[in-house]
Amino acid sequence: MERLTVHVDEKPAYDIVLAEDYEGLGKEIEDIGLGGKRFCIVTDTNVGIHYIEKIRTILEPRSRSVITFQFKAGEENKNLDVVKSLYETLIVGDFERGDVLVALGGGVVGDLTGFAAATYLRGIDFIQLPTSLLAMVDSSIGGKTGVDFSQYKNMVGAFHMPRLVYANVKTLDTLPDKELISGMGEIIKHGLIKDRAYLEWIEDNARNIRTRETSILIEMIKRSCEIKRGVVEKDPLEKGERALLNFGHTIGHAIEKTLNFKYLHGECVAFGMIFAGKLSAMKGLIGEDDYALICDVISRFPFPDLPEELDIFKVIKATKKDKKMSEGKIKFILLKSVGDAYIDKKITDEDMRLAMEAVYEELE
Ligand SMILES: NC(=O)c1ccc[n+]([C@@H]2O[C@H](COP(=O)([O-])OP(=O)(O)OC[C@H]3O[C@@H](n4cnc5c(N)ncnc54)[C@H](O)[C@@H]3O)[C@@H](O)[C@H]2O)c1
Ligand SMILES: [Zn+2]
Repeated sequence: MERLTVHVDEKPAYDIVLAEDYEGLGKEIEDIGLGGKRFCIVTDTNVGIHYIEKIRTILEPRSRSVITFQFKAGEENKNLDVVKSLYETLIVGDFERGDVLVALGGGVVGDLTGFAAATYLRGIDFIQLPTSLLAMVDSSIGGKTGVDFSQYKNMVGAFHMPRLVYANVKTLDTLPDKELISGMGEIIKHGLIKDRAYLEWIEDNARNIRTRETSILIEMIKRSCEIKRGVVEKDPLEKGERALLNFGHTIGHAIEKTLNFKYLHGECVAFGMIFAGKLSAMKGLIGEDDYALICDVISRFPFPDLPEELDIFKVIKATKKDKKMSEGKIKFILLKSVGDAYIDKKITDEDMRLAMEAVYEELE
């Protein structure tokens, strides 16, 4: 079992526990004083079938009551209608201020549950039981919660810290391959923005990661959690440093939208990192050999090929819609070196176009 403590305002706020089963979960819940509460396990249809009964069995002897709320899997259900029916379930279940929501699932479940917890009765406790790779290293940490609103992603939300993040890495056994690889997009990003040695470790261990060797996965998830923790501790409310996590995301998000969500988020982040890496090289910040390293690490995982049909002008236009702009300027994340990212507010459309064209030219 591995444990990391996340601090908010320099005070310990919650632990991230990485385990190979759920055996330790009951004790963790008691240790943070949540024994004897009402619990509502929130999950989606893909995750619920595998794990909801296990979690119920663990919670029941330690609680006043356990209810469940399951919704259909998919980003399209991360919305206020589902939150509304969750509120209704909580009201019918007599949930009070001291009661607890349990987010059992990927980032969709985590974000939606966290948002309901942030708003129900002006805020109740919740714990995160992330089951996707992305949720374990990214969305379950840092307290960003929210839902989509019509076509706008994460438009409505709140900062609300979980009381505990408990990741049973064995749940990754049932995660579809494509989702695992998508999660690798964010993990490769962690190496690129903060830790070159970690990036090289990922490159060396790619095969064992792909075959989901438990000890390797735990080592990797732990390092990525440390990196994400380091960033959110320095900038809990996303005013500065946290923007570094957006490496590969400005163009990545724009591709995601332009191609109508044909590719998974982490797949688009991988595309975006190739372009941002190329741009860093074209600006003379990193060498062409560093750019080759980025491409090599990504190529060790079965990400899709760069889309042939990409309309670069449309993608650049879509970057203007990025929520993470500051006074109308894009906060583009570039690499000073591999393992050291910074925020650049001077990147022009022309810069983006030239980098994207250069990447495509090299493919020919
Ligand atoms: N709050 C944050 O800081 C933050 C950060 C990054 C992403 N996000 C959000 O996270 C979401 C993406 O998260 P995601 O990639 O986990 O998506 P997801 O929750 O949709 O999970 C991906 C798919 O895998 C399934 N799944 C998850 N765990 C499984 C398991 N163990 N076995 C079988 N199937 C499983 C899900 O049902 C779903 O079909 C997006 O909505 C994004 O906005 C939030
Ligand atoms: Zn992301």
